[in-house]
Amino acid sequence: MNEFVKVARDGAVLVVTLARAEKKNALTGAMYEALIAAFAEASDDERVGAVVIEGSQGVFSAGNDIGDFLAYALAPGAVVAEAPVTRFIYALARFAKPLVAAVDGPAVGLGTTLCFHCDLVYAAPGARFHMPFVDLGLVPEAGSSLLAPQRFGRARASAYLLLGEPFDAEAARAGGLVNAIVDAASLHAHALAKAKALAAKPRQALQAARRLIRGDESALLARMDEEVKLFQAALKSPEAQAAFMAFMKRSKG
Ligand code: COA
Repeated sequence: MNEFVKVARDGAVLVVTLARAEKKNALTGAMYEALIAAFAEASDDERVGAVVIEGSQGVFSAGNDIGDFLAYALAPGAVVAEAPVTRFIYALARFAKPLVAAVDGPAVGLGTTLCFHCDLVYAAPGARFHMPFVDLGLVPEAGSSLLAPQRFGRARASAYLLLGEPFDAEAARAGGLVNAIVDAASLHAHALAKAKALAAKPRQALQAARRLIRGDESALLARMDEEVKLFQAALKSPEAQAAFMAFMKRSKG
C-alpha cells in the first residue's frame, strides 16, 4: 500500500485506485511498486476473481512522472529494464485474472497503454486518451507498438502514436479500446459490477477463454523487450531530456 495507490476489497474484486490527483495521478517508482504488490496480491489470493483499476477526482493518470523520467535519464547507470515501471508493465502483461479499467479525464502515456491490457474498459464522457511518446523523444511502451495497430488498424495507430493525436471516449469506443461510455457518477459502480460479474464466472473456463482471446503472449513479450531496449536509448537522448525539462519548467512557471 502506498499513499497514492489505494487497494480495497469489494467481495471477490480487488479495487486499485490511483490517488495522486493533485499531480494528475502521474506514476512514480513507489506507485509502480505498490501496483506490482497489488497485482501480486490479486494473483496469489484465490478469493480474488477480478481487479478494477481506476483514477480519482476525474483523472485516470497522466502517465509516468516526468520528474522521475528526468532523474532516470540523468542517472549514469540507470537501467530501464530494471526500473519499477518496466517490472510493472511486465506484471500487467502476464497478469492472469480479469482486469477492468474505469477511465475518466486524462489517460496519458501508460494511462492509455495500460488500457490495452485490460479485458474491459469503461470510460466517462470526459475521458481523454493520449500517447505523446514521440513528442517526448520516447518510443511506445507496454507493447503499445503492437497492441495499438492491432486494435485500431495502422492508420489510426500512426495518428495516435506518431502524430501523438489525443482521442476522446467516443473515438476510443469506436476504435474498440472502450466497451461503453458511462456517466462519471456511475463509472465506479458500473466497472465494479462488471468485475463482480466476471469474478462470479467459473474460474478455470474464464481464465482459459481469456488466454485464448488475448492470443500469443510470447509475441507481446518479445515486442515489449524490443520497446524496452529502444526506450533505454531514447530516455538518454538529448531530445527526450529537453522535452522533460520543458515540461518541468512549464510546471514550475
Ligand atoms: N509527471 C509529473 N507531474 C505531472 C505529470 C507528469 N506526467 N502530469 C501532470 N503533472 C503535474 C503538473 O506538473 C502539475 O503540477 P504543479 O501543480 O505542481 O504545477 C499538476 O500535475 C497538474 O498538472 P497540469 O498540467 O497543471 O494539469 P492540466 O489539467 O492543465 O493538464 C495533463 C493535465 C495530464 C493534460 C497535463 O498535466 C499533461 O500533459 N501532463 C503530462 C503527461 C505526459 O506527458 N505524461 C508522460 C507520458 S509518457
